[in-house]
Amino acid sequence: MLQFKKDSIFTRNNKDKSKVDESLPGGVLAVWGSPSSGKTTVAVKLAKYLAEHKKNVILVLCDMTAPMLPCICSSSSLECQKDSNRPFGSLGSILSATHVTDQIVKNNIITHKKMAYLTMIGMLKGENEYTYASYSRVQAEEFIASLRKIAPYVIIDCSSYIANDILSAVSIMECDSLLRLSNCDLKSISYLSSQLKLLYSDQWNSSKQYKVLSNVKPNHGVEHMAGALGSIDFRLPYSEEVEEQYLAGNLLADMNLKNSKEFRKEIEKIAEEVFGC
Ligand SMILES: Nc1ncnc2c1ncn2[C@@H]1O[C@H](COP(=O)(O)OP(=O)(O)OP(=O)(O)O)[C@@H](O)[C@H]1O
Ligand SMILES: [Mg+2]
Repeated sequence: MLQFKKDSIFTRNNKDKSKVDESLPGGVLAVWGSPSSGKTTVAVKLAKYLAEHKKNVILVLCDMTAPMLPCICSSSSLECQKDSNRPFGSLGSILSATHVTDQIVKNNIITHKKMAYLTMIGMLKGENEYTYASYSRVQAEEFIASLRKIAPYVIIDCSSYIANDILSAVSIMECDSLLRLSNCDLKSISYLSSQLKLLYSDQWNSSKQYKVLSNVKPNHGVEHMAGALGSIDFRLPYSEEVEEQYLAGNLLADMNLKNSKEFRKEIEKIAEEVFGC
């Protein structure tokens, strides 16, 4: 069990922050928020956008209960490091190391055959949190420190349940920017008011946080949500094409249809604000 006390996992580690050159573009973005709010969808679309703009990006998919790699593209479009004798590396193998080194992370990176600038790390089909040895905050912090060295742009698709998911909790603490997603419904408000209590601290608030309303439909009460959340930085509309890509396990596909135009524009705005590109 995690302890939500001073110096617990919900305390930001400022030790290595001095090493980050804030003038450089890029950095670590954590995407977090209420369950089913579109975290994975947004993380994948942002990673694709950066890769298309020739930015080296690592997309980390934290979900250990429903590994998301098999849900975003076909395994035939992926490959592992050339010198590896395994078909694919796994996030689980990285975190189960006694100490996470850059080489261990590199060995477990998965590349996309057609997107040269995109790499991914996640759990593989059929794996779960018990497939590998358990890990602690130490491995999660070392992992994020390695990611910073390996790629200029890092996007971490966190799971909602930070009380049980150490990597997602540490990612929220260690990131440079945080997208906080919610749907336009009471459950999202209830979720955030419950879970944000785990995170509140002066140090945590120093992260750049952006509030995002996600999967917004015309009949949704956006004004009510803006009132409940205080403010909204980005508003991602519902897109039929995105929904279909998700159903087809093809989220890395291009968005060409007219009904995605507003969604595409908002992803661009987020990339510009967060990463400066
Ligand atoms: N802008 C959007 N347009 C259409 N559908 C969307 C949009 N955003 C999210 N969805 C849909 O919402 C559902 C949840 O999306 P997703 O899995 O990305 O959410 P999540 O926050 O990662 O969920 P989880 O909490 O399970 O990790 C999916 O069916 C997805 O297609
Ligand atoms: Mg998800």
